[in-house]
Amino acid sequence: MADLMSKIISLAKRRGFIFPSSEIYGGVEGIWDFGPLGALMKENIRKLWLKKFVLEKDDVVLIEGSIIMHPKVWEASGHLEHFTDPLVECKKCHLRYRADQMAGGKFIGQGKAEKANQCPNCGSLDFTEPKMFNLMLKTFLGPIEDKAHQTYLRPETAQSMFTNFKNVLSSMRLKLPFGIAQIGKSFRNEITLGDFIFRSREFEIAEIEYFVKPGEDEKYFEIWLDRWEKFFLDLGIRKENLRRKEHPKEKLAHYSKRTVDIEYKFPFGWQELAGVANRTDYDLKRHSLFSKEDLSYFDEKEKKRYYPYVIEPTVGIERIFLAILCEGFTEIKGGRAKANHQTKEVEILLKLDKKVAPIKVGVLPLVKNKSELVEKAKEVYRMLKPHFVAQYDEVGSIGRRYRRLDEIGCPFAVTVDFESLEKEDVTVRDRDTMAQERVKIKELVDFLREKLEK
Ligand code: GAP
Repeated sequence: MADLMSKIISLAKRRGFIFPSSEIYGGVEGIWDFGPLGALMKENIRKLWLKKFVLEKDDVVLIEGSIIMHPKVWEASGHLEHFTDPLVECKKCHLRYRADQMAGGKFIGQGKAEKANQCPNCGSLDFTEPKMFNLMLKTFLGPIEDKAHQTYLRPETAQSMFTNFKNVLSSMRLKLPFGIAQIGKSFRNEITLGDFIFRSREFEIAEIEYFVKPGEDEKYFEIWLDRWEKFFLDLGIRKENLRRKEHPKEKLAHYSKRTVDIEYKFPFGWQELAGVANRTDYDLKRHSLFSKEDLSYFDEKEKKRYYPYVIEPTVGIERIFLAILCEGFTEIKGGRAKANHQTKEVEILLKLDKKVAPIKVGVLPLVKNKSELVEKAKEVYRMLKPHFVAQYDEVGSIGRRYRRLDEIGCPFAVTVDFESLEKEDVTVRDRDTMAQERVKIKELVDFLREKLEK
């Protein structure tokens, strides 16, 4: 499956989805840039998450917390103590690995089986003893670089939803159960990278801290697990490529009573796409203790104070992005058009859900060398542009241009041909079926809107 991944990575780069960061300087391991199409697609994913879990809900509000927080936050949250991975170093080539990912003879991040504890770089079996390595990225605030000014880039977005619990509660006059949602950059100094954007050092998390009355936590855990999973199905991910994985009690994070991962069948194996955790009252209690601010909740009905429990559905945007790319990537040997059936050419079709596709419609004059067609096509393009993300393309044969649109997952191609000039209509080609239908230009916006929103 390494071959499939390299094809996906190559398409992502070639067609402007994802580039290695600072590539002209050799790149930075685990850090990626999203190109013109990738940035649009990422924005679509964010918007769909926002719509589903904030805008369409009465009981979830959005915040945008800072990336750098008071260093005490990370003491209280337990990250300074627990957010560690066991690190080992190969004594021969000095490369470093996560010890837990070597056990059982499998380097999970590399997607290939290796002899237990054998260095994948030089084959040596000689490693240092594991030592705990904290994954938080450090930085300094102000001009003095000493311990007193040291702070961290957040490794998760959750904490500002806890530290702002009281602010949000009082400013929005909320009552339990309610959620605070956030989406934003997070940073982890991951030891083992690989598998493209799956495990990055800079990435985006979208998560919700849903506060509930203790005792109602288990019920809401199930509700959120179902909602969370459904979200991925709605993005076009097939059911058979998703599964749930219950974390065994002894492997739960320090704050968790229960965690279930939603795994996706990536080409390199089943891996965590998202998760739902029952964080109990751990965080609110710890922040109360460390900050001396009382973060308990007054239940007006019951006339008593308590610390709410927290259900946390979480997901990495890059992981959704990668799952969607893997899900949609389809190779068609010999091509789909009849004329190509005898060729050895391999066509790529990116079957993206219409909601996430970065470009919704391509506009093409049938040929480039007829000025009336070009003019008309540009007129249609300008008409569509305020309504949909549209792309105009006149370079190359019409078949080649269809294939370019198929490769970026564009759901519809609008072609202006000679008939268009007489009849004021165009053909609309469906990416997946290749079926074409003629649509009046004046009805085109409504026609496409209906198709795209269906
Ligand atoms: N607040 C809980 C939390 O941060 P997590 O499982 O450590 O939980 C949340 O991370 C999500 O972020 C994961 O489900 C995964 O989708 C994504 N994620 C975690 N580490 C990542 C990394 N290094 N690169 C990309 N995505 C990552």
